[in-house]
Amino acid sequence: MSSDYRDYVFRDGRFVGLFEEMYRNAGEVPWHQDETARWLLSDITLAIVRNFRPGRFLELGCGLGYFTARVNAEKSTGIGFVAGVDISATAIDKARAMHAGITFARANILDSGEIGALLKNLGGPFNMVLSKELMWYILDDLPQFMSNLAMLIAPGGMLYVSQTFPDSTPFYGIDRFPNARVMSDYFESYFSRQYECIERDAQLGNREMLHFVGKKL
Ligand SMILES: C[S@@+](CC[C@H](N)C(=O)[O-])C[C@H]1O[C@@H](n2cnc3c(N)ncnc32)[C@H](O)[C@@H]1O
Repeated sequence: MSSDYRDYVFRDGRFVGLFEEMYRNAGEVPWHQDETARWLLSDITLAIVRNFRPGRFLELGCGLGYFTARVNAEKSTGIGFVAGVDISATAIDKARAMHAGITFARANILDSGEIGALLKNLGGPFNMVLSKELMWYILDDLPQFMSNLAMLIAPGGMLYVSQTFPDSTPFYGIDRFPNARVMSDYFESYFSRQYECIERDAQLGNREMLHFVGKKL
């Protein structure tokens, strides 16, 4: 059993997505979420979320909840209900234990039945849904992801995609989204763009990072 979290996500260039096993067995914090939640890229993501002051905010694929907790700490700025959802029950248990007072739930965001139940349990759709570092893991069922997003986002609500691109080529997902421009254009065909920024940060090896905020049409 590997202790390297990466072995549970991709093997031989193929997506395996064993997230629950990863959160149980990894020897280090997967993707160093505890550290990256404090990096400039997350400060920028937080500033963008704050700008829209969502009454009801949901982070998809929230993992251990470090970034969700940063959003929750902004409640005095007008952000209301804050929740995070992840496919891994272990990640959700750990997030609950570390960040009190935030709603964390386990659900597969590619499963419409689970999303329906989640919406019922959490009091309905959200004014902002954040997909932060999630895109490479939902590519096998992108149409279902888009359809579930439509359920999760309230009329007039926002989708925020915050996504870094890999530093090596070829990478898994390059066929669908070779760069940030293509990913942004894809979301713009479903949502009305309110904000877009493609940044490069030496801390991240000067890789592209997309911020796309679109309003539900
Ligand atoms: C790279 S981590 C990002 C964690 C956090 N959003 C951040 O930026 O630090 C991706 C997360 O997505 C979760 N995930 C992957 N597929 C998912 C799915 N179908 N439904 C819900 N969560 C999923 C994984 O368990 C993992 O915690």
